[in-house]
Amino acid sequence: MPTISGRVHRIVRGQGAYVFDDEGRRLLDVPAGLWFANVGHGRAEIAEAVGRQLRELATYPVFGRFCTPPAEELADRLAALVPMAGAKVFFTSGGSESVETAIKLVRRHWQARGQTERQAVITREGGYHGLHGFGTSLVGVPEFRAGYGELLPGRITVPMMDLAALERAILAHGSGRVAAFLCEAVIAGGAGVVPPAEGYLTGAQELCRKHGIVFILDEVVTGFGRAGSMFAADRYGLRPDLMLLAKGLTSGYLPLGAVVAAGPVAETFWNPGTPHVFEHGLTYSGHAAACAAAMANLDILEREDLVTRVRAGESRLLAGLLPLSAHPEIAEVRGGTGFLAAVACHELEVAAQVADAMVAEGMLIRVTGGNALQVSPPFVIEDADLDRIPAAISAALGRVARRRVRQETRPEPETPA
Ligand SMILES: Cc1ncc(COP(=O)(O)O)c(C=O)c1O
Repeated sequence: MPTISGRVHRIVRGQGAYVFDDEGRRLLDVPAGLWFANVGHGRAEIAEAVGRQLRELATYPVFGRFCTPPAEELADRLAALVPMAGAKVFFTSGGSESVETAIKLVRRHWQARGQTERQAVITREGGYHGLHGFGTSLVGVPEFRAGYGELLPGRITVPMMDLAALERAILAHGSGRVAAFLCEAVIAGGAGVVPPAEGYLTGAQELCRKHGIVFILDEVVTGFGRAGSMFAADRYGLRPDLMLLAKGLTSGYLPLGAVVAAGPVAETFWNPGTPHVFEHGLTYSGHAAACAAAMANLDILEREDLVTRVRAGESRLLAGLLPLSAHPEIAEVRGGTGFLAAVACHELEVAAQVADAMVAEGMLIRVTGGNALQVSPPFVIEDADLDRIPAAISAALGRVARRRVRQETRPEPETPA
């Protein structure tokens, strides 16, 4: 599209916390792609696991009674890993598909239980849950909803961290008409990394239990160590009814997502003798090679104790970034929850220019929601590189300021007579 024509930046290779572009520049991958490259780039072990599986069997649809060993092994491993008793796993090909699957699963659950009025889904302002049909209808970022005509009904949006507002919304709509509350533990791309207010998540979970509402935790970004524990649910003591996963599940080596269900929703479809079937399936659900990538990825995560590494490094990352908040162009620095931080600029244009200027500092960074520079590096980043990020942002801010001064002081071109 014309907005990027002539400015395409081609990334051709990756190794550890670095990627390389087609001009041979080695660039620190500060956002880990789109928050996914948790174990870092260029892991031969994952490529070999995928290659082995592809040679054996690329995949076979896990429909009806069919299954493949990688899908089965990964489902068992995930069920044992999540803090949810009796967890069941439904595979997808990414975060947006996990959102669609979860909303359908919950609505089907309520229909099956005879509570047919329970259809509305509550989400938060600034929340981001992918951009498929339900995702676009539920997203808390107005620009992502605009320009499509009528979206799906039944969406209720509440302020980010306000429990009283959440309960008011439930009561105003009628608690018997709300199907689910869907939230991220740490709001990621929609609002530019907003960690939870003290007690918000457990309070929201309690409200869901009190009103019989399904609590869906979107861990597409936070899952697999990003928030400083295997899942954000572990860190914040949550027991969601549904958990949504993608990204870090394979560290981006192949597309894969999952919906993990427990409690009443799982019972509706999985209890022995249940008459209810969830008539939903995707060609690549549980793709065998993608599941093999996930298994190898989880092996690395556990063997190299990378989640501990993230937890140990989170204060170092935040402490390094905090002094940037004194800069006149910076509105706020947010972080302290694992390798999830952001440097929010007052103006989107400044954030975009800083992101461009970072290349000259040997780093890639991206602008995310709320005019923020996304700092979410791969877990394998060296301490020395972690420490270089704030100085690079500061230098890029300096470049942008100097360029602006030059533009402002340049004499007006003479108009031809
Ligand atoms: C919290 C959250 N949920 C869902 C999604 C959608 O995931 P995908 O882009 O893999 O469809 C994203 C993507 O960034 C996300 O951040």
